Amino acid sequence: MRWRDAIRISKLKSGKPRMATIGLKTLMIVEYEGDYHATEGLCRHMRWPLGLGGKVKDGCITCPLHQTTHDLSDGCLVEWSPFPLFPPYGKLVGKLSKKKDLPIYETRLKGGFVQVRI
Ligand code: FES
Repeated sequence: MRWRDAIRISKLKSGKPRMATIGLKTLMIVEYEGDYHATEGLCRHMRWPLGLGGKVKDGCITCPLHQTTHDLSDGCLVEWSPFPLFPPYGKLVGKLSKKKDLPIYETRLKGGFVQVRI
């Protein structure tokens, strides 16, 4: 594993997730309350890019599609596909894939970039 540039710090706005790619790996990068987080870029449910409309709140990232939520600090699953509630479509499509945690990656700032250890 080595440190790789993921995205320029200047391209990030606090609490707004962005997509980045390193080689074949797709990542979601976000600055939240002064900390920089890097996770697997695609939602673990049905692979929606979390940098496109993902919401960061209370230390978690929520996918805009069916609102699967993971903790940013450790990637642990908080809620799996709860949306929409009526009809209970979210719960149904939630069963289409196995519940998973979100892989997370170590970050640091260097040379104007958020770097990710990957
Ligand atoms: S694709 Fe993200 S919650 Fe369904």
